[in-house]
Amino acid sequence: MANRSTQFFDAQFARQIERADYALNPFERRALGFVGKRMLDLGCGLGNLALAAARRGAQVTALDACPLAIADLKRRAAAEGLAIDAEADDLADWRAQAQAQYDTVASIGLLMFFSCAQAQSVLRQLVLATEPGGVLILNVLIEGTTYRQMFDPQQHCLLDPHTVMGEIAGWNVHDLAVEDFPAGGSEFKRFLTVIARRPPRGGCLSLPATQFRQGSKPDRRPRLPSRASRGATCESARSCSACSAAPTRAPGSRPSC
Ligand SMILES: C[S@@+](CC[C@H](N)C(=O)[O-])C[C@H]1O[C@@H](n2cnc3c(N)ncnc32)[C@H](O)[C@@H]1O
Repeated sequence: MANRSTQFFDAQFARQIERADYALNPFERRALGFVGKRMLDLGCGLGNLALAAARRGAQVTALDACPLAIADLKRRAAAEGLAIDAEADDLADWRAQAQAQYDTVASIGLLMFFSCAQAQSVLRQLVLATEPGGVLILNVLIEGTTYRQMFDPQQHCLLDPHTVMGEIAGWNVHDLAVEDFPAGGSEFKRFLTVIARRPPRGGCLSLPATQFRQGSKPDRRPRLPSRASRGATCESARSCSACSAAPTRAPGSRPSC
């Protein structure tokens, strides 16, 4: 399972554990306000978000390839008397259980370490793992990123943001941002962060205007599909009638009303 990216994080996590550097990163801080009762953190790293969610009473499953990080998470959880189901596993071919079982699914900074076929497949599984009415918190490096040092040459992917948004068409998007972060010299990382709620079963969502935040180079931002971010949405055409509006359907999306 070890490849260049997992070795990169093994070394980084060893240094962080040594320094007891467990601060939430900006994406994890953003995610914390959306944590519900049952959370999956796929690619949890040191598990700082998982631990913060468990402190708030969530039942958390945390998975990552790095055995050192998982062992350290278990140690910290035990020290606080928190039950976190943490396991070390290669997630490149991860599959959700048959039934969506989490009201919060987070995957921060993971998908780019898979091949594109794997990244798209795991993204679909994350969607399936999010129960109706639940929230998906996704953060991923996307096309345009120039920094490649942590990537395995044989196994990485910079997804097109439209591909990502297409998978959650019809969801209520709470937060959507494309941001560039400097990565030394002239290199930078371009992240897509999206926090979106799956329509409740048989129900409709009334959507607030999406906040689309941009980083420092707006001229280089991709324009994202608007269909995922506007209108009330629902799980079926039948339930749309309860929205007192005629259902409409974008190709490949759930009906929206
Ligand atoms: C950028 S870190 C993000 C960690 C954490 N979510 C955070 O926000 O701090 C990427 C994580 O992906 C994990 N990872 C990379 N390739 C993986 C694989 N094939 N299977 C499982 N985890 C993997 C690394 O171990 C690392 O913890």
